[in-house]
Amino acid sequence: MAPPRKLHIKSYGCQMNVYDAQRMVDVLAPEGFVETATVDDADLVILNTCHIREKASEKVYSELGRLRLARDEAASSGRRMQIAVAGCVAQAEGEEIVRRAPVVDVVVGPQSYHHLPQLLARAEETGRALETEFPVEDKFGFLPQPRPETIRARGISAFVTVQEGCDKFCTFCVVPYTRGAEVSRPVSAIIDDVKRLADNGVREITLIGQNVNAYHGEGPDGRAWTLGRLLSRLAAVPGIVRLRYSTSHPNDVDDELIEAHRDLDALMPFVHLPVQSGSDPILAAMNRKHTAADYRRVIDRFRAARPQIAFSSDFIVGFPGETEADFVATLALVTQIGYAGAYSFKYSPRPGTPAADMQEMVPAAVMDERLERLQQLIDSQQSAFNKAAIGQTVDVLFERAGRKPGQIVGRTAYLQPAHVFPGPMFLGPGMAPDSLVGQILPVRVDSLERYSLLGELAAKPPQHARPLAATGA
Ligand code: 5AD
Ligand code: SF4
Repeated sequence: MAPPRKLHIKSYGCQMNVYDAQRMVDVLAPEGFVETATVDDADLVILNTCHIREKASEKVYSELGRLRLARDEAASSGRRMQIAVAGCVAQAEGEEIVRRAPVVDVVVGPQSYHHLPQLLARAEETGRALETEFPVEDKFGFLPQPRPETIRARGISAFVTVQEGCDKFCTFCVVPYTRGAEVSRPVSAIIDDVKRLADNGVREITLIGQNVNAYHGEGPDGRAWTLGRLLSRLAAVPGIVRLRYSTSHPNDVDDELIEAHRDLDALMPFVHLPVQSGSDPILAAMNRKHTAADYRRVIDRFRAARPQIAFSSDFIVGFPGETEADFVATLALVTQIGYAGAYSFKYSPRPGTPAADMQEMVPAAVMDERLERLQQLIDSQQSAFNKAAIGQTVDVLFERAGRKPGQIVGRTAYLQPAHVFPGPMFLGPGMAPDSLVGQILPVRVDSLERYSLLGELAAKPPQHARPLAATGA
């Protein structure tokens, strides 16, 4: 048998790219590829790129410059290194990539990476291969399932793509162009994936998609299922104790999703619901098709159904034409909602999007200053949210051993990292702390260290506890 070839993937951007990188590993595993942590000994390097914000493509070109040196180094010791560019920059730039960086062997868009083995072979024969079409077939039908040992090595929390692409066309956003039209996977395929993950130790599933709550995949009854209905079905899969989903659009929050939050214990009370701005004229110019008041009403519906629910969001400052009054409306919305955390970005024009042609650019210094003010407000809300956990007993799903001996690390319902030393009185004879990985246990929170909660177990774990993440269990 040929010795394994080594694969190094560098992934930028969103959760979808993290997931895609894993699936590329799964596609290439049957071809004899194993992952390596460094570029230097790799036979294949894949840059899994992101195009959403500023300078993303410039970063890719400078990384390709560095890779050219690594490839020359490998060649001087008689080893051939192939270089592939995947993800949204590959989709957006296509041939431009090989024109500017001839070192690249393969360019593959996010809808085509199931063809990687053929593209690599074609590049071997002809020197180069490109695929940035949106193929008619569904790539999910062609992706091999990850091996059980691979699932176990990836840990107890996994992403599952349920939907891809977006039909919303927010005027600043490149996603509808790079990821294409919205497509939902059928319910049965998702249930199969989740069952397989659960059978191999996964306890928490995050359903992902660019606009995940627009999900409308075909159910076993032949009808389109909503995300809420899908979540209810997945909550019944044995072994799955936590469910999450990301990223949602406020206009696609329907009653079934709200009811899922009311009824499903496994569905975490933490929702990422981007609003982008608190100003109605800016929301209109962004083509968000909702006002700030509409957004507040959506938040109120969630809160009425699940009072302990918390939210995070995305914001853009300095969208073309944004005045001080518009920006103050954003601050006011943040103050009214009260977030557990949020991401905020300076607007950056994406070529080909409608906003890129808008004239009234906000000066860079103004953008900087607004970003600073918004981030201060969000940070203070996040600190207050984290501080409120002190003295409380909260459920933590343990994920892995900590860096310090005897420590284990998990996350709360709100994704706050929690660090605990279980100590001998909580562990049976011969039980290592990481035997608690995969379990949800109550933790009494004593203090905070930056964004992490520190505390103690508040109850004994069941004595039959054994490692879920280990292989061969
Ligand atoms: N400029 C700045 N931020 C952007 N985002 C998307 N496109 C842009 C852009 N052109 C942000 C939005 C989105 C998040 C994923 O990235 O806030 O929700
Ligand atoms: Fe982009 Fe999200 Fe708007 Fe879709 S809903 S266009 S992914 S910002």
